[in-house]
Amino acid sequence: MDTEKNELDFAARMRTAIEPARGVDDRGLRNAFASRLKQVAARPEVVPIEFDGRRIEVRRGGTLLGAAMKNGVRLMHVCGARTLCATCRVVVESGEENLTAMSATEKFSLRWHLSVSPRTRLACQARVNGPVEVEPVFPLCGELPGR
Ligand code: FES
Repeated sequence: MDTEKNELDFAARMRTAIEPARGVDDRGLRNAFASRLKQVAARPEVVPIEFDGRRIEVRRGGTLLGAAMKNGVRLMHVCGARTLCATCRVVVESGEENLTAMSATEKFSLRWHLSVSPRTRLACQARVNGPVEVEPVFPLCGELPGR
């Protein structure tokens, strides 16, 4: 009973704590955030990419998998970026010239998984040098196909 009362008290305190925030006009904050995003996008070391229809920003020279993970895109990577599983496979829709060349290890892994194509890359190996648009081959973790 005490636990239930404590939880109800806690919930009531949380409600009163967030109540003032609901009436706040946050347009200034939104504008500041948007201008900060533009500043970040204008930095030469940051590259905008489109991952599964989501626009994200990536550190130039970073891998597609790292970019996905940092931006909450839950791409499968069962082997932990060791080029063994190919579950991180993506299809490059545009901008393949902005990815690093395929290494022999990556080619071998893709050949093993019968996916050798200039448009198919391992997200754990392909590094980003410019804008690129990719789609994952497998559904993202926690998402069902067609949803
Ligand atoms: S994470 Fe396994 S091959 Fe990329």
